[in-house]
Amino acid sequence: MRTPVIAGNWKMFKTIGAAAATVEQLIPLVEGVNDCEILVAPTFPALRAVADAARGTNVRVAAQDVAAESGEGAFTGEVSAEMLADAGATYCIVGHSERRQYQKETDDLVNRKARTVLAAGLTPIICVGEMLDDRDGGRAEEVVGAQVRGSFQGLTAPEVIRTIAAYEPVWAIGTGRTATPEIAEQMHRFIREIIAEMVGQEAADGLRILYGGSVKPENASGLMEQPNIDGGLVGGASLKADDFAKIVRYQR
Ligand code: PGA
Repeated sequence: MRTPVIAGNWKMFKTIGAAAATVEQLIPLVEGVNDCEILVAPTFPALRAVADAARGTNVRVAAQDVAAESGEGAFTGEVSAEMLADAGATYCIVGHSERRQYQKETDDLVNRKARTVLAAGLTPIICVGEMLDDRDGGRAEEVVGAQVRGSFQGLTAPEVIRTIAAYEPVWAIGTGRTATPEIAEQMHRFIREIIAEMVGQEAADGLRILYGGSVKPENASGLMEQPNIDGGLVGGASLKADDFAKIVRYQR
């Protein structure tokens, strides 16, 4: 049985004070929910304040990105996985489509980041997803398949079980255009098949695969009830504590 994960990706939103206030609003709304992992991903400067506010609750903290290099070093502007852990993060998003698009992150870099995150004892959330042109051109599986192979390259079966994947079709992010549960389920199944080819069926069956792209309180349950969808990576709708709590409570 895979424990579902509902993760809020706050992107470049919220000052430190606003981030701490949002998590303080969220905590009572999701109190007692213990059959799913609940995460929020604030900006780097807000990590510590959010982690402090969430200490001892069922809300955990994720970072949105990480350096590919570990520990310390002369890498201006970078933040290592160990530093994220020190700030209170226990998960880290890697390879979000916005970073692949705007920072030109490659599968190879995403793979190095995922390994660094695992080595520091954090859980990576590895994102993949095709652009609209790829989907319209019938290349969605080819593109996502290549991203999965590249980003998971060299991970061992036990590491894959500790990892979370997120399928986020780029055409559905922030657009209000959600993939139908059937389209998402088909791709999630495909991702699990590739992982099974890479590291075996048991690890593939243990991998949580989240769906991301305009998840809202209204469409969450239709997506989450699909057998290969193990939760959501939520952008816009995670910024307000009550909307995000409704998504967390989609099945209740
Ligand atoms: P969205 O973002 O829910 O606003 O579409 C999802 C994401 O980019 O993680």
